[in-house]
Amino acid sequence: MALENKLNITDSAELARVEEKNSKQKALELFEKKLLDTIEVGTFSGLKKIHSYLFNDIYYFAGNMRTVNIAKGNFRFAPVIYLEAALKNIDNMPQSTFDEIIEKYVEMNVAHPFREGNGRSTRIWLDCILKKELHQVIDWSKVDKEDYLLAMERSPIKDVEIKVLLKSALTDKIDDRQVYMKGIDASYHYEGYNTYSIEKINEEN
Ligand SMILES: Nc1ncnc2c1ncn2[C@@H]1O[C@H](COP(=O)(O)OP(=O)(O)OP(=O)(O)O)[C@@H](O)[C@H]1O
Ligand SMILES: [Mg+2]
Repeated sequence: MALENKLNITDSAELARVEEKNSKQKALELFEKKLLDTIEVGTFSGLKKIHSYLFNDIYYFAGNMRTVNIAKGNFRFAPVIYLEAALKNIDNMPQSTFDEIIEKYVEMNVAHPFREGNGRSTRIWLDCILKKELHQVIDWSKVDKEDYLLAMERSPIKDVEIKVLLKSALTDKIDDRQVYMKGIDASYHYEGYNTYSIEKINEEN
């Protein structure tokens, strides 16, 4: 079964296809209309706006914190009861050096505030921080997807691999449409539809 969505799509392959296409179009709009320049950099409030913009056509929860605990592989993302506190801490993390920025990115990934679409929205969020603070961004075409995923899986324990990988892909081409769009490929997962295991908690909303 597909995740509940505004389009009433029930087939998960179809949802994956439609969602990827629509969110890519939205990501392009964010870039073309220069909306990213108006979004607060390095805070959850800014990330909410990015997520909301990308997924508002598809999911009711666009821009809203998840209400279920989720895990991928062996890793459990931040439990819902600690999520708000974790996000406040992340807002206050420094972001003036490359290492600090990646450490902040890793923490935001551990928080995984949304039910779906964390990867794409948080990569845009990361690029916004790098752009503002270092006048550089990641050239995602230089980041091998499997290496990226392995490094992200490892990152909650040790962040050296993701730091090395992303540092080698830094570019000064901060306003290049293609460089930007490469990070929005919804295929930063091994294969098939990238699903979470869910632990239902009190469903309040
Ligand atoms: N086992 C894991 N441990 C930690 N982080 C992970 C793990 N698996 C995936 N990730 C991170 O989560 C992201 C995927 O999150 P999610 O599926 O919510 O977002 P998405 O935008 O749909 O996916 P994608 O990043 O694959 O385009 C990956 O890009 C990676 O950064
Ligand atoms: Mg996903």
